[in-house]
Amino acid sequence: MITAYDYVSGYVVNKSDAEMILVGDSLGMTTLGYNYTNSVTIEDILRATEAISRVGITKILVSDLPYKTYESKKQALENAKKLISSGADAVKLEGGKEKSEIIRYLTDNKISVMGHIGIQPQSINDFSQYKVLGKNLEEENKIIIDSNSVEESGAFSIVLELVDKSLAKKITDQLSIPTIGIGSGNFTDGQVQVFNDLIGYSPNKIPKHAKKYNNLFEKAQNSINSFVKDTQAL
Ligand code: KIV
Repeated sequence: MITAYDYVSGYVVNKSDAEMILVGDSLGMTTLGYNYTNSVTIEDILRATEAISRVGITKILVSDLPYKTYESKKQALENAKKLISSGADAVKLEGGKEKSEIIRYLTDNKISVMGHIGIQPQSINDFSQYKVLGKNLEEENKIIIDSNSVEESGAFSIVLELVDKSLAKKITDQLSIPTIGIGSGNFTDGQVQVFNDLIGYSPNKIPKHAKKYNNLFEKAQNSINSFVKDTQAL
C-alpha cells in the first residue's frame, strides 16, 4: 500500500504494481507543510480523495479519518460516509480497544474499516514520541489487546506502525485479517510507505523507517535550474 495525495500521485500509484492506495493524513506533512498530522481536516482528505478518484482508480482506495473526526459513533459514520461518497472504498482510523465501539458501528453500517495501532501519529506532537513500541511486556500486552479488539470489531485489515518486529510477527500469525506494517519489520502480510518518502520528493528529513528509492526533489530542482540557465543564455 502506497499513499497518494492528489491527482498525479494517485495516477502514479494506480498505474504501479502496488495493491492499495492510502489517502493518508501524512498529507499534512507531505503536502500542507505541517509538522504533524493533527492539523489535517476532513475537508483536506475529502478534496484529496476526490482528486485521486478522478484518475479512475482500479485498486482499493482507503482514506484516513483525520484527528477528532471520529470521536462519537454518529460523527464517525457521517465523516466515513463523506469519504466513501468521495470515492474511497474504505476508511482507516487510529486506535485500539478504545475505538472498538466506533469500528463496530462503522462496520455494522457497511463501512469497510482499516485499523491502525502501534504508533498513532494523530496523538503525536513531539518527534521524540516516534519510537518502536512493544519492546516491554506492558506495551506488548496493550498492542496485542488492541490488535485483537480491532479484528473483533470487524476491521478488514490493520496497520502496525513502529511495532517491535517479533511482536508484529506474533500479531500477524495470530490475526486472520492482513497486517500492513511500517517500521515493524518484514513479517507483516503487507507493507505501507509514504509516496514522497519512497520517491525522495520532500525537503524534509525522512523518517528512519522510510524506504527511499529515488531523489525526485533534487531532480525537480535540477530541471528548474536547467530551464533558468537556458533562459538566461537566450
Ligand atoms: O497517513 C499515513 O500516511 C499513514 C501511513 C503511514 C500508515 O497513516
